[in-house]
Amino acid sequence: MVDTLGVRIRTATESDLDALEWDGKYAHFRRVYRQALREAQRDRRMIFVAEATDQVVGQLFVHLHSIWKSSFGGARTGYFHSFRVKPHFRNQGIGSRLLWTAEAALVDRNYANAVISVAKANLRAQQLYRQHGYSVYSEDPGEWSYVDHRGRLRHISEPAYVMVKALRYGNAPRD
Ligand SMILES: CC(C)(COP(=O)(O)OP(=O)(O)OC[C@H]1O[C@@H](n2cnc3c(N)ncnc32)[C@H](O)[C@@H]1OP(=O)(O)O)[C@@H](O)C(=O)NCCC(=O)NCCS
Repeated sequence: MVDTLGVRIRTATESDLDALEWDGKYAHFRRVYRQALREAQRDRRMIFVAEATDQVVGQLFVHLHSIWKSSFGGARTGYFHSFRVKPHFRNQGIGSRLLWTAEAALVDRNYANAVISVAKANLRAQQLYRQHGYSVYSEDPGEWSYVDHRGRLRHISEPAYVMVKALRYGNAPRD
């Protein structure tokens, strides 16, 4: 058990990029994360990290201009991705705090929905999202590609459920 009261949720900066690689485990996402940070600096994404005393222990990225907007009548829809908490720090509410923080930031920006794509095999994460008020909106083949830190093109194929939560009702603005 760790002292989760000492864990702080904040937005990421350039100096967090190394920590997001989790000592090499996620080095293959280096370019993806750098691109995400550049977009965060242009207000197109948000990146939240959970920080314990001496390390980053969790993260949640938000696309502010996702393709999902068109699925919801043009209502502003944030897309959550790259959500993870280090194993030793799981089951202590840190993931929930990341979700709440990201949802609150979307509400502040008058977003109507939060969407997350979760692998069909990831039952635990699906259960967590249900507890947070998300429900399955559709299925997705989960096909995407990225260039890794060595310049190799990698393909991901992970059938997923797209889950959505309505953040507010009524006069949500449309872009
Ligand atoms: C999904 C993930 C980010 C959740 O993070 P987390 O910090 O474990 O999340 P929480 O602690 O808020 O909630 C997880 C569970 O702990 C419970 N919990 C919440 N606060 C708790 C506390 N203080 N003490 C004990 N349990 C707690 C929650 O009710 C939830 O219960 P569940 O097992 O019934 O779902 C984490 O498990 C993870 O990194 N998984 C691997 C990557 C992944 O699957 N990411 C999602 C991709 S879509």
